[in-house]
Amino acid sequence: MSAHLLALSHISKSFAEQHQHHPLLRDLSLCVNQGEVIALIGASGSGKSTLLNIIAGIELPDTGMVSIEQTVLNQLSETDRTAFRRQHVGFIFQFFNLLPTLSVKENILLPLQLNQLAYDQAFFELLINSTQIEQLLYRYPDDLSGGEQQRVALCRALIHRPRLVLADEPTGSLDNETADQVFALLLNIAHQEQQTLILATHNLQLASQTDRVCRLVSGKVTEQSLP
Ligand SMILES: Nc1ncnc2c1ncn2[C@@H]1O[C@H](COP(=O)(O)OP(=O)(O)OP(=O)(O)O)[C@@H](O)[C@H]1O
Ligand SMILES: [Mg+2]
Repeated sequence: MSAHLLALSHISKSFAEQHQHHPLLRDLSLCVNQGEVIALIGASGSGKSTLLNIIAGIELPDTGMVSIEQTVLNQLSETDRTAFRRQHVGFIFQFFNLLPTLSVKENILLPLQLNQLAYDQAFFELLINSTQIEQLLYRYPDDLSGGEQQRVALCRALIHRPRLVLADEPTGSLDNETADQVFALLLNIAHQEQQTLILATHNLQLASQTDRVCRLVSGKVTEQSLP
């Protein structure tokens, strides 16, 4: 039995634009071990968000296979993929995707409700204290700054202790000091919970603190060592 939590094999994805075919991911393969923390870097438009969406089963690849533990995601129905994602994946979206009609606290607790999991007050408080959003719990997403929304999205992605955390530029809207704190929280929780964490970022200083750095170039990942 392999210890891989995630296996991507021979993934390709193209988008059609004005009758032209734009290949974005080309025969991309990548295996990630359980508990591994990976940084995904690459130029804007190289396909980082698309790849995270494919890993989460939000988008399907044109060809290839995505498996998380024993489950081959791209062979599931959309309903089953959604159920799988809710339970096992925490996703911090690049543009947050908070639900505007729910308060901050309701947004954060939503994954517990959807999965019928018990509320762990100590863990909730750890998350909101470490991201310094204690004062925002009864506000609504539209009244928050980008950086505040990003920290709420991070708490929501972690509250149900998923096996796999996908973080798309999770500190992109934060000042340097808050970014460092939030990044440390992500790493601490990943280690504590033995989570696998894949983090798309343009921040090489943060990327250099992960176990492995993968650069997305010309539709494939190449391993990279950072100083
Ligand atoms: N649904 C779609 N339809 C058409 N083109 C798309 C679609 N989704 C992504 N693309 C294109 O694929 C390319 C890669 O997009 P993606 O968002 O994955 O890049 P990225 O590496 O995350 O960039 P950034 O660093 O700016 O966030 C872009 O050129 C984008 O326009
Ligand atoms: Mg992106």
